[in-house]
Amino acid sequence: MERYLEMISNGLYRFVDGKLMIEGVDAEEICEKFGTPLYVYSANHIKTQINKLREAFHKSKPLICYSMKANGSMKILGLIKNQGCGLDIVSQGELFKAIKQGFSPKKIVFAGVGKTEQEIVAGLKTGIYLFTVESVEELKMIDRIAGKLKKIANVSLRINLDVDVDTHHYTKTGRKETKFGMPENQVASILTARNNLRYIKIKGIQFHLGSNIKSSAPYLNALNKLKNFLKEVNFCPSVIDIGGGFGISYRNEEIEPIEHFGSKIADYFIKNFSGVSMIIEPGRFIVGNAGILLTRVIYKKQTNAKNFLIVDAGMNDLIRPALYDSYHEILPVSKKEGRYLSFDVVGPVCETGDFLGKERKFTESIGSSDILAVMGAGAYGFSMSSNYNGRLRASEVMISGKTIVCCRKREKMSDLWKNECW
Ligand code: LLP
Repeated sequence: MERYLEMISNGLYRFVDGKLMIEGVDAEEICEKFGTPLYVYSANHIKTQINKLREAFHKSKPLICYSMKANGSMKILGLIKNQGCGLDIVSQGELFKAIKQGFSPKKIVFAGVGKTEQEIVAGLKTGIYLFTVESVEELKMIDRIAGKLKKIANVSLRINLDVDVDTHHYTKTGRKETKFGMPENQVASILTARNNLRYIKIKGIQFHLGSNIKSSAPYLNALNKLKNFLKEVNFCPSVIDIGGGFGISYRNEEIEPIEHFGSKIADYFIKNFSGVSMIIEPGRFIVGNAGILLTRVIYKKQTNAKNFLIVDAGMNDLIRPALYDSYHEILPVSKKEGRYLSFDVVGPVCETGDFLGKERKFTESIGSSDILAVMGAGAYGFSMSSNYNGRLRASEVMISGKTIVCCRKREKMSDLWKNECW
């Protein structure tokens, strides 16, 4: 367990005298202060992950556009901005948060298959770096709106290279059956006819293969396909955006270390695309293992068929196990001695799919009011949370050394109906 914690958290989560510490703070103490369920993030883990990316990719010097859908909390965005990163966004809402947090529009790339007219106007007026264009109709729409606003829209074309990746079916985005990007023949036609698009400047090509990808092989495959494609169509972009998707370890699984992963891609890139700038769009890699979800056991329920720990966080707080059958390590924050029993860790939501972990081993003395840490909850945790079952969204805090700062207050009951008309 110690080795696992060390590996996933850059040593920033560890047990000291049987108590889980996050940087310099005891997890139980944080819960006393802020209550549960509670998302806790390690600021230094986030910084370390960004540095690791920079080192791994140092030969190609990419602009890191953090994919804010992974975790869009303002405090986290602020920290990431101060590390010099830009953003990958997918909506006007994300754009507004980004600008409010002080990101330079010149470091923002805007993806998504369904950008509305209003969103395109907002992107153009803000002066974002690139629209990542996902269809022919969208490109025409951007051209028309840019013409009306008397602006030139800088775009990169998202190409669907039909590359498969080894990840959950729902998070593969690079196969031709998915809704993302455009097939090679459409990108080729756009490039041939690009002079007809008077208000568009095609600066780049983008691809995004999927999420939680554990090896560099599919990226190399995609870059190789892209190289051949660009040669065929005789086009040299000034920027290539290889998307995000860099995997992290959620249990003890082996994944390609980032230094190999990054350097292989960077080597290939500088050899085959000399003079072209690179963008990467990591989300999970930066914040995934920086965050944990702390939750308190409400009841222990034992039946002939199963043992359950019913906790105060549910699928509305962390939907990944229910939606993708994702594995999150679950640890008691205070170690106990004794015989081990197997438990399903489940939430209070009225769905059989409301579980955080199945068949997990805990000592038999575990029970009501003990606190559990659901690991690897920093990415697609809070950002996918909801009010389902009339449940209040959790609070979020950030730790830096011995300092705890609140990122988000717990919702209150009146938040549940504040936008309703009745
Ligand atoms: N760029 C684009 C265009 C994307 O669509 C995504 C993620 C990323 C970058 C960042 O991917 P990352 O580096 O975080 O893997 N909710 C799922 C993941 C969905 C990812 C959607 N797109 C999960 O919880 O696993």
